Amino acid sequence: MTAGGAFVAREVTGGYGRTPVVTAVSAQVATGEVVALVGPNGAGKSTFLKAVFGLLPMMEGRVTLGEEVLSGLEPQEIARRGVAYVPQVDNVFPTMTIHENLEMGAFATGTDFQAGSDYVYELFPDLLAARRRPAGQLSGGQRIMLALARGLMAQPSMILLDEPTAGLSPLYADRVWELIRRIASDNRGVLVVEQNVGLALRGSDRLEVLVDGRVKLTTTPQGISEERLAQVFLGLD
Ligand SMILES: Nc1ncnc2c1ncn2[C@@H]1O[C@H](COP(=O)(O)OP(=O)(O)OP(=O)(O)O)[C@@H](O)[C@H]1O
Ligand SMILES: [Mg+2]
Repeated sequence: MTAGGAFVAREVTGGYGRTPVVTAVSAQVATGEVVALVGPNGAGKSTFLKAVFGLLPMMEGRVTLGEEVLSGLEPQEIARRGVAYVPQVDNVFPTMTIHENLEMGAFATGTDFQAGSDYVYELFPDLLAARRRPAGQLSGGQRIMLALARGLMAQPSMILLDEPTAGLSPLYADRVWELIRRIASDNRGVLVVEQNVGLALRGSDRLEVLVDGRVKLTTTPQGISEERLAQVFLGLD
């Protein structure tokens, strides 16, 4: 694993064209910490993750992991410095097998396949059992597990997850959050976009509430009720 350290995104402004979608958004994630990014549809959560991972040009702001400056680097370079990004959609190669998908995860960052796959198959025993199956045959929930597993193959110290529980049954969503906690406890930081405020409140160490491209509130789960959070979401505060 790379040296790591705290992940800090400071006052990030970015978007797709000339008009920013997110404005001066900051987020900080320490090693072992899970920070949830919540907010209504279209708030800019995915845009923020894409901007910090170098997939969108950043108009302003600075992103660092420990001592390393990430802002201005290409996604590939950011990945090599220890950040994994698991997108909301199109997160697996459907014609490749599960095993090949994992190989791609290690190959992309030049990390050791054996060490990565030992860790990942221990964490996701279902994937080990199904490793010869094409990823395209997996259910939505299984695909999310595979996407997460592929990101972990790079042995990242920081993981950006975009709505890993979208479309999952409550039981499966709980299982994903258990995994998120386990992943963070293995000396990684996790920044996770979560639509379900209840899950975010139960599973995260801190929440950033994004509304209309700006951080409306930063809170701990203990610092806010689910009802109050829903109000902030809806702009009723
Ligand atoms: N490829 C794109 N080109 C132009 N505008 C985009 C693009 N993708 C998203 N947007 C716009 O940026 C804004 C924020 O979108 P974003 O996907 O970041 O929201 P989100 O908070 O992730 O929402 P959701 O909860 O629905 O995933 C929206 O107004 C959206 O229309
Ligand atoms: Mg999104």
